[in-house]
Amino acid sequence: METTKARATARTAPTDHPLLTPYDLSGTPLANRVVMAPMTRLRADLDGAATPLMAEYYGQRAGAGLIVSEGIAPDPGGRIHPLQPGLDTPGQIEAWRPVTGAVHAAGGRIFAQLMHGGRNGHPANLPGGGSPVAPSAVAAPGRVHTLDGKADPVVPRALSAREARALAEGHAEAARRALRAGFDGVEIHGANSYLVHQFLADGTNLRTDRYGGPVAGRIRFAVEAVEAAADAIGAHRVGLRVSPGNREGGMAERDPAPVYRALLAALAPLGLAYLHVTDDPRYPALDDLRPRWAGTLAGNTGEHVETTRESATALVASGRADLVSVGRPYIFNPDVVERLAAGVAWAPIRGKDYHYGSGPHGYVDLPRHDAVATLRTSVSTRENAEE
Ligand SMILES: Cc1cc2nc3c(=O)[nH]c(=O)nc-3n(C[C@H](O)[C@H](O)[C@H](O)COP(=O)(O)O)c2cc1C
Repeated sequence: METTKARATARTAPTDHPLLTPYDLSGTPLANRVVMAPMTRLRADLDGAATPLMAEYYGQRAGAGLIVSEGIAPDPGGRIHPLQPGLDTPGQIEAWRPVTGAVHAAGGRIFAQLMHGGRNGHPANLPGGGSPVAPSAVAAPGRVHTLDGKADPVVPRALSAREARALAEGHAEAARRALRAGFDGVEIHGANSYLVHQFLADGTNLRTDRYGGPVAGRIRFAVEAVEAAADAIGAHRVGLRVSPGNREGGMAERDPAPVYRALLAALAPLGLAYLHVTDDPRYPALDDLRPRWAGTLAGNTGEHVETTRESATALVASGRADLVSVGRPYIFNPDVVERLAAGVAWAPIRGKDYHYGSGPHGYVDLPRHDAVATLRTSVSTRENAEE
């Protein structure tokens, strides 16, 4: 049911709208407070190169103050799907330039999300059929998507401490490649069951060496990865995403609060561009972490609260976040921000069939509100003429 607050928000004049005010993201000017959340959509080619379709898709969505790209592996061993874009080879770097160029040409900004799949990888999806790696040899539950259909997950190989250090440090070179590809910065994916999260969570990190055990060990990989990227391209161009308590992909975190509080304390002196936090009913991360983070905070309402025009607005208007990340609505509304400015409702989220897939359908053919209005007008004009 629509609340009084929501109705008030909907009536707010566009210029006063809490999401439509500009924001200085550590020197990167954002036109508004809306972040397009990272979403894997599997439209790269089989060489892991970004495609012209992706340039069209991201360009259509450049009205967001900031776009965070779909997850891109910081090294080939971190890929989770062959159609996920890479950022390793000169060809892959070059292929991103039309994408980042399209966003910039439309006045937007785009960070690359560096996402290492860790145990979510599968030999069928990894170059050369290699084994996925993880903090510990604990397999993910469920089934894995491959080009040949669904497969059983495999038990990942536990990284040695030396390998973990090298992987964390690899975020430096990945961040440099992202800038060469035209990105404005990088977001390190420490959320939603991927490698960095696997180090943070006690269910997937059973190590007793310097990358495991008590809190100081479990946050080490995240801190080293972030520091490496920050040293390489400047902390003002680096964000970190976390989703404390998120059980996606079989994740288990007995007591997230001490882990994430320690992580924030370790990162505070760096002066990062932002922290991106997904809320969760099992651990109200935004309420707990917001007072502990002096820098920019981008919030995502999490799966339990649908991101709507009202919930997104309330997150920023209440001061619980400086920026709000909007995921699925961006699949169905290329013009989330333009709709906010025009006071037009967002098209509703449709089924999961739209999440992945191939080709333009459900990807670049979702209409903008002005196109919908034009279509309606032409239909009613035609109907009137026929009467
Ligand atoms: C199709 C799809 C792909 C996603 N891929 C990623 C991803 O690559 N990286 C990431 O951090 N989150 C990913 N997410 C999670 C979203 O960024 C977001 O947190 C989630 O959809 C909840 O926000 P929403 O309610 O606004 O959609 C994905 C979500 C969807 C629906």
